Formats: sequence, C-alpha cells, structure tokens
Amino acid sequence: MSFGPVKFVNEKTIELEKKTEDKKVLVATSGGVDSMVCATLAFKAIKERLIVLYLDNGLMRQGETEEVNSFFAKMGVELQVWDVKEKFFESLKGKTDPEEKRIAFRDVFYKTLRQAIKSYSAEFLIQGTIAADIVETQKGIKTQHNVLSQIGINPANYGLRILEPLKELFKPQVRLVAKQLGLPKKVYERRPFPGPALATRIIGEVVPEKVEKVRIATAIVEDMIKEQSVFQVLAVLFNDRATGNIGGKRIYGDIIAIRAVESKDAMTAVPFKIPWTKLEKIRDRILAEVPGVVKVLYDVTPKPPSTIEYI
Ligand code: XMP
Repeated sequence: MSFGPVKFVNEKTIELEKKTEDKKVLVATSGGVDSMVCATLAFKAIKERLIVLYLDNGLMRQGETEEVNSFFAKMGVELQVWDVKEKFFESLKGKTDPEEKRIAFRDVFYKTLRQAIKSYSAEFLIQGTIAADIVETQKGIKTQHNVLSQIGINPANYGLRILEPLKELFKPQVRLVAKQLGLPKKVYERRPFPGPALATRIIGEVVPEKVEKVRIATAIVEDMIKEQSVFQVLAVLFNDRATGNIGGKRIYGDIIAIRAVESKDAMTAVPFKIPWTKLEKIRDRILAEVPGVVKVLYDVTPKPPSTIEYI
C-alpha cells in the first residue's frame, strides 16, 4: 500500500498530543531533514509545551545555527540554542578509533540532553530516528547515536521517556511528510546529514582546527553539486598527510577527499559521476579556500563495501 503523508501527519499529531498529556516535551533539532520534520510535527501537536533545542556542538555545517534559528523563528518557535562546543571537543579529545568517537559523541549528546531535560523540566524527549537508522544499527552496520534500545541503553538510566514518531519511515517518506507539513523546499529537499555531524568526516582526532577545514570544504562541495539526483555530497579530512609545494616551499599538508553518491535510502549507494570540469573547479576552490591542503582526492567507492560517511 502506498504511503499517505496526510494520514500519517494526522495520526502522529493526535498520538503525540495524547501520549505527552500535559507534560513538557523536548525535541532536539540539528537542521537535518529528519529532526526538522520531527520538530515541526511535534510543534503541531504540542505547541507551547514543546521546547525546541539546538545544540551548537561545534561540528555543524557553515551557517547552520543561523539557518535553523531563522526557520523556527518564522514558525513562531523560540529556538533554544546551547553553546556546547567545548564540552563536545573535550569528549572527543584524543580519540581516534571511529567507534570510540561515535560512542564519545553519543555519550556527551545524551548527557547534555539529560541536563536540558532537567533544566526545562521536560518529561519526554522526541527524536527523529528513521527506519534506516534502526535497520542499520540492528545489522551492526553502524552505531547510531540516537537509537537507544537497539544498542542496549535503557533510556530510563538517562532519565528520559523517548518518542520516535518517524521510526517507521524511510527518507523518501520523511520528505513527503515534510512537504505535507509545509516545510520550505530547501528543507524537504535537504540532503541527509549525520547526527555526529562533521565528526564523521574527520579521520583521526576531532579538533576544532580540523573541523573548520572540513566545514569549508563541505560548503564548497555542497555549493558546487546541486543536482537533485545526488543523495549526499561530502568532504573528508584524512589523518595522514602528504608532501606538497605551496608558494615554492615543500610542506607536509592535508589531504581532502570528496564524495558524492546516489542512493534511495542510504542502505546502498553508488558514486555520482561528477563531470571532470566541475571536479577541477571543486579541486581549485578547495585548494584556494581550505588552508594547508595539498591533495584533493575523489572517492569512487559504492556502498557496500564502503559506507557513505568515513567513520
Ligand atoms: P553510512 O555512513 O553508514 O551512512 O553509509 C548512511 C546514512 O546515514 C547517515 N549517518 C548517520 N545519521 N546518525 C545519523 O543521524 C549517525 O550516527 C549517522 N551515521 C551515518 C549518513 O550521512 C548517510 O546518509
């Protein structure tokens, strides 16, 4: 049977309203399509009992905080922004193993949310987990930071009651719901972005200086590759370095890989063929705008065996 966004929105609105009774509810949003849909749906159901929180964790994309703020302002929601950059960088410090980094992110994320829950006296937390997150976590393909029970964490230990209204939907259905909710095209067509944000695009230790490089490179590839068929584009900073020559001087500089993939639901993906002239323009911009980069590589690997992100 085909999916009906009207029915879905109506049913979930009623369900969220009923389940949360007269309690205060917190929803954390990241600017990604899933969490924006989730927050909008929750606002429709819960109105003034809803607190919309944005954690400015230092790992977000260029201009994200301002964009999320203005989106919610237009909706009449006063976004709560917490500057938690130091906390996140502290927890990621010294960690190079990909799973350790994900776990560190997950732990600091939940600790911060627990604080938020307490400080706003919220009794429920709404999350934008979608079906692909659950499937991939169950298969052991990834450790999602936002799928608690599947990874053996009891939400009660964190003092939370969790609701996941989008958990039966895959990405294309989430976009239909977004459209149905009247979200702007820019939001419902927005490419997916991972919970651990730019930390998934840094091989090795995540430090502010590296995040800034990936942030600039990400903005460049996103700006240069606008084709709708491209599911996701990313830039990744390697831990290794390579010798280059900048201004007549040999330096040991950074390596950035760019990746563009086509996919329906992120379960599998094939590389998008970036036209050569565009690839050259991207390379030139990265070399000119990201300090210290001496090599730009183009990742042509499908998923599987690769994943879309790098950690
Ligand atoms: P991978 O790298 O596993 O990613 O092929 C599949 C899709 O999921 C996104 N992704 C995440 N999303 N939390 C999220 O909310 C995460 O921890 C996470 N890890 C990966 C990724 O961007 C891609 O769309």
